[in-house]
Amino acid sequence: MTDFASLVDLDRCTVSPRVFNDQDVYEVELEKIFTRTWLFVGHESQIPEPNDYLTTFMGAEPVLLTRDASGSIRVLLNSCRHRGMRVCRRDHGNAKLFNCPYHGWAYDTGGKLRGVPQLEESYYNELNRDEWGLIEIPRVESFRGLIFANFDAEGESLEEYLGDMAWYLDLIVNRSKNGMIAFPGCHRWRLGGNWKLAAEQFGGDNYHAGALHRSMVEIGLGTQGDFRGKNPWISDFEVKCGNGHGFINFDIDSGEAPPIQAAFFEQIRREAVETLTPEQAKLVLSVQVGTVFPNLSIISFIGFTSVRVWHPCGPKEIRVHSYGLVEHDAPPEVKEITRKMLGLTFSSSGIYEQDDGVAWGDIAEFQGGPVRRKYPFNYQMGRGHGKRMDDKPGLIHPPSTEIGVFGLYEKWREMMAR
Ligand code: FES
Ligand SMILES: [Fe+2]
Repeated sequence: MTDFASLVDLDRCTVSPRVFNDQDVYEVELEKIFTRTWLFVGHESQIPEPNDYLTTFMGAEPVLLTRDASGSIRVLLNSCRHRGMRVCRRDHGNAKLFNCPYHGWAYDTGGKLRGVPQLEESYYNELNRDEWGLIEIPRVESFRGLIFANFDAEGESLEEYLGDMAWYLDLIVNRSKNGMIAFPGCHRWRLGGNWKLAAEQFGGDNYHAGALHRSMVEIGLGTQGDFRGKNPWISDFEVKCGNGHGFINFDIDSGEAPPIQAAFFEQIRREAVETLTPEQAKLVLSVQVGTVFPNLSIISFIGFTSVRVWHPCGPKEIRVHSYGLVEHDAPPEVKEITRKMLGLTFSSSGIYEQDDGVAWGDIAEFQGGPVRRKYPFNYQMGRGHGKRMDDKPGLIHPPSTEIGVFGLYEKWREMMAR
């Protein structure tokens, strides 16, 4: 039996390659992490009407996020109680019933089993339909439109779980009066790599950007080569938020926005003064990148906000779900600029996305051998140099540092050793 705690060395700040490569690690993660914590499942604006639904995953389990006929949000296992086929294979839509394609059992958006072919002739009316509804995930809570669910019926609330991270998420999702909405649809693709490498990058690895994404600067799509900003501690910093969450804020110059977008940015700045604290309002519209442990990442800059979920799919494969958020009140032209920027940068066709995919896939393909796995990866950058500050929560350090990134593995270790 593997001693999972031994794979993360808290004193030396190192992590064993086995954490990213081993099948047994992956299987225990599914149980000890993905069934025991809050997982992001979607945005409220994606299911505005009764009987709206979308399909996603919680760890390895396919789930349906629905708004039932009475308007309540529910999360249900997308698995027929008869033989387990997914009752819904579409990405999203509106339906009163999910008809299982295999033998035709039909469930409503509240999960109740409504229809069973040949109930009378073949089951002799002896099947108790109340017992055979879709399995419901016991806890569902929202934070400013972001919906999370938890297989564990006990334990801390979403608010407690987010802790300091809520302050930083607010910089993005609460910077305007009427909040944000999701663009319709979701980019979905599969990628070689371990889900934690993606999560750690968004949770605090600005260090990679100057090397891996240098081509963006070279073709004129970024203006500053080192991705560190100019005001360390003030507006250029990284945060270890606790519970494995991490955040990066930097105020790098993103170039000039088209006039209509620039005007909308001014509107957001004015609104942020009312929706946020003065300390938060000063940071609005910086480049902001964060990970909510375990697998939700958000990146917001030059006006676009990309939400992505790194669904684990074996130790060496990620199922990526990615979509955009935009201010509800943005003019149509600004929404269109935003949508195009998302496609160009962070989406299945995005340039940044493709750079990252190369690194994660390379590590997954080549670093699991019996020799390399004996030598740990180094997460020592900045250790011991973080500070608590009065104007913002969490443990702060200017870019670049791996304090926040290693925080993810501290949380991982704690949960895996339980
Ligand atoms: S598997 Fe769904 S009806 Fe048989
Ligand atoms: Fe990247």
